[in-house]
Amino acid sequence: MTESFTLRAPSADEHAAIATLLTAAFQGPDEARLVDLLRRSGAMLLERVAVDGAALLGHIAFSRVTVTDGDDTVRIAALAPLAVRPDLQRRGIGSALVRDGLKELRTRGEDLAVVVGDTAYYPRFGFSTELARQVSCSWSGPAFMAMALAPDADRHLPVSVAFAEPFALFE
Ligand SMILES: CC(C)(COP(=O)(O)OP(=O)(O)OC[C@H]1O[C@@H](n2cnc3c(N)ncnc32)[C@H](O)[C@@H]1OP(=O)(O)O)[C@@H](O)C(=O)NCCC(=O)NCCS
Repeated sequence: MTESFTLRAPSADEHAAIATLLTAAFQGPDEARLVDLLRRSGAMLLERVAVDGAALLGHIAFSRVTVTDGDDTVRIAALAPLAVRPDLQRRGIGSALVRDGLKELRTRGEDLAVVVGDTAYYPRFGFSTELARQVSCSWSGPAFMAMALAPDADRHLPVSVAFAEPFALFE
C-alpha cells in the first residue's frame, strides 16, 4: 500500500530491480531486454522511476526516434516501456510517470513524443492517433499515437521515422 511516491532518474545500481519490475508487469522478459538494449545502444533518452523510499514502484523509458524522410531537425522521442508494479497499479503511478516524463522532454527541447499503446489510456495525456498519421513508420496503425511537445511541432510534419534498432525485438 502506498499513497506517496517520488519521481526521479534511476541510478545504474537500480537496473536489476527495474528489470525485475518490467518482467513482473509484462509477465515476461522482453521489455526488460528492450530497456537493456536501448541503454547499450545509446538510444535511451530518458528514464524515470517512481519510488517510495527504497521501494521501486514504476518505471518509464523514452528513446530516440530517427527521421528517415523529411525534416531531420525534428526531435522525436518514443515512450516505451511504461510499467507499474502489479500490486500497485491503478493508483495514479503510471499517469504520474507519463506526465513527469513528457514535462522533462519538453524542458529538453523535444518536439514530439510517440507511443504504440492502448488508445483508451494514452489520449488522456495528449497523445492522438490523428497527429500520428503525419508520422509514418513501421509501427503506424490504430495503436500508434503522437503528441506535440513544442507549440510549433507540426511545422516539421509529415515525416517518416524509425524507432531505435532494439524495437526490432517486437516486430
Ligand atoms: C499501463 C500501466 C503502466 C498503467 O499504470 P497505472 O499506474 O496502473 O495507471 P494509473 O493509475 O496512472 O491510471 C489508471 C487509469 O488508467 C486506466 N488504465 C490502466 N491501464 C490501462 C490499460 N492498459 N488500458 C486502458 N486503461 C488503462 C485505468 O482504467 C484508470 O482509468 P481511470 O483513471 O479512468 O479509472 C500499468 O497498468 C502497467 O504497468 N501495466 C502492465 C504493463 C503495460 O501494459 N504497460 C503499458 C504498455 S507500454
